[in-house]
Amino acid sequence: MAENEITLKIQRFDPTMDSEPYWQSFKVGLKPSMTVLDALFEVLNHQDGSLAFRFCCRAGVCGSCAMVIAGKVRLACETQIATLLDKDEICLSPLPHQKVVKDLAVDYDLFFERLKRVKPYLVGKEPYPEKEYIQLPKERVPINEPIDCILCGSCTSACTMAWTNRDYLGPAALLKSYRFLADTRDTLKHERLDIVESESGVWRCHTQFNCVEVCPRKLNPTEAIQRQKIAAFKRKLFGRKRKG
Ligand code: FES
Repeated sequence: MAENEITLKIQRFDPTMDSEPYWQSFKVGLKPSMTVLDALFEVLNHQDGSLAFRFCCRAGVCGSCAMVIAGKVRLACETQIATLLDKDEICLSPLPHQKVVKDLAVDYDLFFERLKRVKPYLVGKEPYPEKEYIQLPKERVPINEPIDCILCGSCTSACTMAWTNRDYLGPAALLKSYRFLADTRDTLKHERLDIVESESGVWRCHTQFNCVEVCPRKLNPTEAIQRQKIAAFKRKLFGRKRKG
């Protein structure tokens, strides 16, 4: 391989034509500050216009470009090729255990279905304030991290419980539910707890930390799940009226 080029080994699969996935290699000329997403565009624009992958912001914000890069789940737009030059070839494959739409693009329908079930929006106190709900800096602390989730789906695709149980809400949705449960401006506490402690909620988590390992934003869905277990447990233990 020439010094100024790299080989991308890409998993290809078009469910309308292929019976199973296969690998295809492309040589790409290196450019300064080139990301994996830039390299994919080199292939798309100059070698194979049929290559499919997702992207939008190209700045690590939208979460669209999550994929497996050299054996790890990462964002293609944030991964510098220069950090992978110790490898002979850079293997790229779609997020694991997701339905592949084509090549590196996976189907997010189930992911967003799970997210919708936790009511991912703030329901504030009425009457609504004329300007905004006031929140003290210390009240904001618990949601400082969860609010940064970019919904890339990496955590849910790494969660073995989410692979085997389509009903399980999974780490991304449960991180989102914690984000609102911990928000002092929200009023749906009991409704949210009912959802997270249901059959498909927090008790399905086996605390494997896979979600934490793969999160490109370094968030901690496992911690959010455990905090919701504690909240649900406390409600059960202390929320009932004593008899007699
Ligand atoms: Fe938006 Fe990568 S393209 S996070």
